[in-house]
Amino acid sequence: MASQSNTFLKQKEISDKTRADIELHPENYKILTGDRPTGRLHMGHYFGTIIDRVALQNKGIDTNILIADYQVITDRDTTENIADNVKNMVIDYIACGIDPEKTMIYTHSAVPAQNQLMLPFLSLVSEAELLRNPTVKAEQEASGHTLSGLLLTYPVHQACDILFCHANIVPVGKDQLPHIEQTRQIARRFNERYAHVFEEPVALLTEAVELPGLDGRKMSKSYGNSIALSNTEEETAKLIKKAKTDSDRNITFDPENRPGVSALLTTAALCTGRKAEDIAEEIGDAGCGALKAYVTESVNSYLAPIRERRHEIENNDEMIKEILHEGNKKANAIAEETLQQVREAMGMVY
Ligand code: TRP
Repeated sequence: MASQSNTFLKQKEISDKTRADIELHPENYKILTGDRPTGRLHMGHYFGTIIDRVALQNKGIDTNILIADYQVITDRDTTENIADNVKNMVIDYIACGIDPEKTMIYTHSAVPAQNQLMLPFLSLVSEAELLRNPTVKAEQEASGHTLSGLLLTYPVHQACDILFCHANIVPVGKDQLPHIEQTRQIARRFNERYAHVFEEPVALLTEAVELPGLDGRKMSKSYGNSIALSNTEEETAKLIKKAKTDSDRNITFDPENRPGVSALLTTAALCTGRKAEDIAEEIGDAGCGALKAYVTESVNSYLAPIRERRHEIENNDEMIKEILHEGNKKANAIAEETLQQVREAMGMVY
């Protein structure tokens, strides 16, 4: 445990340094990050990473977003609704301010040359390294799924995601750090074994406060505690109304002992830019009903412009398709070039 948190602190330090340098030299950086299209984006994604991506994009950094469709089948046996999930992910991105003119949005399954990097990369990792990955273990346990070949090796596939476009920064949450470490190792080993082709990327950890779900646990669709960007105002009100609180009428911010109440306060704080403690004090003895009314109002006003933009584009299938086709076309050109560099380094040009 101690060594794990040491690694975390070191990673955080590297991440902070990188953040400072981005301000000075945005032109030196290329970002790649991604999401699994397993459902709608929710407020946890928004505050955890989407806001940051939009800001980085708007600083003029070369930004690339992967809709990781092959990762959907790492810990589930179906691709049900995948096309709809992909489409809605694009809609959510655009509604949040991702600009397809600046940011490449693409999917795994449309970029064969990127997937082909998996073969040489797999030869660079050992079975023991794969079995040791704590995030893979946690995902296997949470899903109750058997450890399939893909679940075991997807961190290597994630290295293909990052290295195919020579990205050097990867904005992620801390659960993804083992994958970034694996990616760095693959880049290093490839360069040592063949020729220098890849830079070692750095994880960019989010600055944001983690937004808890409505029950105080991590916000996740699978826990049923999330507010999706695509929810209507009425749906949002209902979700907040159902949130589990406690019987103490006096509202206080105490995440340890009052996870439900505190999660609601944190949500309102993020949406209003106020402090959770101040909101708690203002509501005081008015109880959970008043708290929930305040949270509903804060969330709905905050999300209103995003939802409005979402509404404007959600039926524009042509535009959404065009964005993905353009992104996939660009990604294919980049992946072909990288694969060619890899073939040359390996002497496989015939
Ligand atoms: N594994 C990431 C997640 O579950 C998604 C992802 C896929 C990703 N490929 C990536 C993130 C490449 C960063 C870089 O959230």
